[in-house]
Parts: sequence; structure tokens; C-alpha cells
Amino acid sequence: MRDDALAAIKAAGDLDALKKVRLAHAGDRSPIALANREIGALPPQARAEAGKRVGMARKAVAEALAARQTELTAERDERVLVEEAVDVTLPWDRLPRGARHPLTTLQERVADVFVAMGYEVAEGPELEGEWFNFDALNIAPDHPARSDHDTFFVESVDSGKVLRTQTSPMQVRALLARGVPCYVISPGKVFRTDELDVTHTPVFHQIEGIAVDEGLTMGHLKGTLDRFAEVMFGEGMTTRFRPNYFPFTEPSAEMDLKCFVCRGASAVPGGPPCRTCKSEGWIEWGGCGMVNPRVLVACGVDPKRYSGFAFGMGVERTLMFRHNAEDMRDMVEGDVRFTLPFGMEV
Ligand code: DAH
Repeated sequence: MRDDALAAIKAAGDLDALKKVRLAHAGDRSPIALANREIGALPPQARAEAGKRVGMARKAVAEALAARQTELTAERDERVLVEEAVDVTLPWDRLPRGARHPLTTLQERVADVFVAMGYEVAEGPELEGEWFNFDALNIAPDHPARSDHDTFFVESVDSGKVLRTQTSPMQVRALLARGVPCYVISPGKVFRTDELDVTHTPVFHQIEGIAVDEGLTMGHLKGTLDRFAEVMFGEGMTTRFRPNYFPFTEPSAEMDLKCFVCRGASAVPGGPPCRTCKSEGWIEWGGCGMVNPRVLVACGVDPKRYSGFAFGMGVERTLMFRHNAEDMRDMVEGDVRFTLPFGMEV
């Protein structure tokens, strides 16, 4: 029995085979185990001798098994090292990586700035009611912004729907949905019938902000936008207001950003000239003003008790300022070679 076992152990070519050999020759029902069990049935004088011989056989088999196990394990490990080797020098980046679009990350970043000031973020529909896009914003039916020239109308023309030409309808939606006090920032896509060229695109993005509360003044508006400018463009970057007209704000202002290249230095007498701002020291960034009482009334807010401000600016323009992106078409085409360098900013 021992010799049979030793021969089988020697013949086992791998760990699986050895496992079977162990079961057959050293398992509970192996011949040697059975012989061991028989010992008790022998006459007393024969037991010692038989016990010794069976014990030695078991020991020899156990040792042979252990030795073969070690041998076969080493062989297996060696084989695995060769067969499963990984060549770490092979190229791993053959699948092109994507990237989030910088306009998306910039909109999120802007929203974050206002969330930190207590604003809520709201998104509105791109297919918008004419009433929201125009009427409620005090843009009368004969206002040029309503002519076919700027607006994408949706068939049928009397459907009352347009592709929104601005994010300002969110002023109205925010007030109607939330009531007052109301602090909302709303980034999103807008549409105008422009040709795609270096400085125009028929689809672009704006960020709208509205705040309506008791006692809000233009000072609050200025402070809010100055803070915004500083977070986006760095310390000392402020804004300047120039009188302007928007139907939905009164008074209204064009909002300029201190030139992000010369930081105003070119406008100082004797200062170095600046191409970016044409040595004016300021660059136009967006529009703003105090919410026109007519808009408040259209939204069911009492203009005697509440006042507010609103502002809106282009996201593409902001991206141009921040990252020297010069061609609007790059932002539209979605070429990953443009978006990748902006990284995966989250
Ligand atoms: N919606 C305006 C535009 O597209 C921008 C704007 C101006 C938004 C004044 C405002 C504002 O909220 O108060 O040109």
C-alpha cells in the first residue's frame, strides 16, 4: 500500500492530480486508513507490530505528499509568472479620453459662487413661451427683439413658443415659482438667428441672476457683481456701470469688467497701451439693473414693498476673458482638442 501510494505521488503531474492522489492514498477511505482502523481487531500481541508498520507507512506517505506539494506549487508559481506576465511598457491610452466642455464647468463654477451667497440655482426651458421671453419682461409686441430677425420662432408661428433669446425669462419663472424673497441664479442655453462666425453663434449661453427682497438697492447689485468679478478674475477686479436701457430693468446699466489684461493700467495717463481693452481699462461684460416694477407686477409681487435687481452675462464671453479663447467656433464644434486642455475641473 505504501509503495502504491509513493508511486502515485511521484506520478502526479500537477496540483489537481496530487489532490486526487491524496484522497485515494491518504484519505479516510484509503487502504492505509482502512488498515489503520483494522488494527484494533487484531490479536493483542500483533497490534504493536502492525501499529508500527502502518504508522511508518502513513508517515512516509504524508512526507511524500508534502514534498510533492511543495515541488508542484513551485512549478505552478513559476509557470504563472511566465504565462501571466504583464508588459507594463505596452501603451495603455489607445482609447481617446473625453473631457467635460469648459462652458459646462464654467456655468457650474459661476453657479457655485452665487450658491455661496445664498442663491438657488434654477434651470428653465429652452423652448419658451413668448409671454415669458417677452411680454412679462416688458418687451412689447413691437419691440425689435421680437422681430423675426433675432428670434427663432417655432411652427406654427402663432403657437406662442420661441427658442428663448435670453435667460431673462427665468426672472419671471423664479418669481412665479418661488415668490419673495427670491435669490436665483440661472445658467442656460439661448438662441438667436445669427450666423456662426468668430464672434457669433446662433446657440450660446447666458447666466441670469435675480434678487428680489425688501430694501434691495443698486448698491447691493454693485456689491454682488464686484464680488462675482473678484471670484472669477482675481482680487481687485471690479465692475463699472454705464447707463443703458433694458425694458425689464429700470434704471438699467451696461456692466463693464476691469480689463483682465492691463487691469486698468492702460487707462491711466501715460500708462502702457492695451490691445484687449483698447486702453479704456474696461471691457463690456453684461447687462443689469433694478427689476422694472412692471415685471414685479406681472409676477404678482407688490413693487411698493419689494424691490430687486437682475443681471445677465454671456458665458462664452466670460470663457474668452478667463482663458483667452478667441474663436467662438471652437466652443461650438466640440473638438476634444479644444476641450481637453481645460481638464476635468469639477
Ligand atoms: N437679457 C439681456 C440680453 O440678453 C441681458 C440682461 C440685461 C439681463 C439686463 C438682465 C438685465 O438681467 O438686468 O442682452
